[in-house]
Amino acid sequence: MSQVVGLTEQEIKRRRTFAIISHPDAGKTTLTEKLLLYGGAIHQAGSVKARKADKHATSDWMEIEKQRGISVTSSVMEFEYDGFHINILDTPGHQDFSEDTYRTLVAADCAVMLIDAAKGVEAQTIKLFHVCRMRSIPIFTFVNKMDRAGRDPFELMEEIENVLGIRACPVTWPIGTMGDFKGVYHRQTEEVEVFEGGRHGITQVKARFVPFLSDEIGEVLEDSYRGKLMEDIELLDVAGDSFDLDAVRAGQLTPMFFGSAMNNFGVESFLAKFLEYSLPPTPREDKEGNSIAPTAKDFSGFIFKIQANMNPAHRDRIAFMRVCSGVFNKGMTVKQAATGKDIKLAQPQAFMADARESVETAYPGDIIGLFDPGIFALGDTLYTGKKTEYAGIPLFAPEHFARVSTLDSLKRKQFLKGVMQLATEGAVQTFRRADGLGEEVIVGVVGELQFEVLEYRLKNEYGVDVTVTRLPFTAVRWVVSTPKELKLLRLPSTALIAKDRNERDVLLFESEWSIRWAQENNSGLELTDTAIRE
Ligand code: G4P
Repeated sequence: MSQVVGLTEQEIKRRRTFAIISHPDAGKTTLTEKLLLYGGAIHQAGSVKARKADKHATSDWMEIEKQRGISVTSSVMEFEYDGFHINILDTPGHQDFSEDTYRTLVAADCAVMLIDAAKGVEAQTIKLFHVCRMRSIPIFTFVNKMDRAGRDPFELMEEIENVLGIRACPVTWPIGTMGDFKGVYHRQTEEVEVFEGGRHGITQVKARFVPFLSDEIGEVLEDSYRGKLMEDIELLDVAGDSFDLDAVRAGQLTPMFFGSAMNNFGVESFLAKFLEYSLPPTPREDKEGNSIAPTAKDFSGFIFKIQANMNPAHRDRIAFMRVCSGVFNKGMTVKQAATGKDIKLAQPQAFMADARESVETAYPGDIIGLFDPGIFALGDTLYTGKKTEYAGIPLFAPEHFARVSTLDSLKRKQFLKGVMQLATEGAVQTFRRADGLGEEVIVGVVGELQFEVLEYRLKNEYGVDVTVTRLPFTAVRWVVSTPKELKLLRLPSTALIAKDRNERDVLLFESEWSIRWAQENNSGLELTDTAIRE
């Protein structure tokens, strides 16, 4: 296949598209803000934060809906730094955590895993990490809040390795972790980046580096800290994994950094290393397993997120597309792989730190928002030239379930249509009992707020009042293979045999324990927590 050359190739090389994965309150908003600050995308940190405060001060979805304009602009943030074009994908984490958060990771080329030094690896980080792992993307670890007393860094390393199953290699190492933070030691350059609390803050500050083997070091580190640091480094050199860039890029080794986003400490040096080690957009596989290079001349991209009702007056939607190959130009006509239809992409939008802007040209790694009058589906491939179709976006296992029904039997058709539409958009997943008992629809969601979204949208867009009755299930597993008919399996009494929207067999469980029990008692039963969206 012919390749792009020259300028376009350079544009691709300087692109970095990543997501920050973390548990709520680890400091993702603060870190994002500091990255934007260094990129000059905002001049004073605080604006992302203010936006988040707006968003989260509202507890119910109807309020969030009113503020949709806000959440959209923060879905993707682009900025330039040191010759790089950086796209940060937002992964909502508080009450708006949903399947969208997982789907967004499918569009990223690498991830920054942010960990609170005092809390270590937390639940939501584990879930997001596993999604990144499915695609073996490089993962960079930033241990935040070092200005406060935190856990022992060796213990944190061990936790990452044991809980997440990825080897960790510290690039920097903290000095003083009991609330007496002095800075970090850069293992490659043997310099200490000095922490001077209070000097940092909301505007950019130049970091101070002191060579460890210099007289000056005595001015910034007392003997006891120097001794402890030397011991730590010796131990790391002997017992730790050595740095291996190939392993980092293959997602087998996570480089670890320590700092304090709030104090602007360690952020810029992290960003510099991140840009050096991470990769520009890499080839992606199509449905047949062919690898499509970003430098291929023909344009291709896929839809990974659809946000509905951005403007309630028009009922429009925005489909988020990741450009995978070639060059995107405003107004170009592309083919939709699933339907073979030609579509003119007339109103594409890019997302800057504080506004939506019309985009003229976009390159692999970039995310653009497409005006969607209801023609796009999640996982859709758009392309020019030779037919290209990327592997679909996975379905991720919901963790909350409810029986949803309508009391008004005359509205049943509308009800089913609405639920189906929301399932197509990926807001919810639907299931039904395999034994045909009960006419209700079982709805599964990753984030609980989606139940509110469902209720609100069915009422507002379809005029249907529904009853949502929560069910005790906490997990769904798709059946990959079974030794016998599902109803003949030995299952915990609380498990339910069901079908998903595509008539695939699934089992609904109340706990991790019952999943294990089912597997232990049915040899040959193979289950999975993700399926391909069809
Ligand atoms: P999130 O997006 O991951 O949920 O986290 P966010 O950035 O909102 O940070 C959560 C809290 O942690 C905030 O405090 C924030 O100021 C604080 N924080 C972030 N980075 C650091 C750090 O490096 N050191 C310390 N000590 N704290 C940090 P808050 O009290 O919830 O908000 P605020 O009143 O400070 O704005």
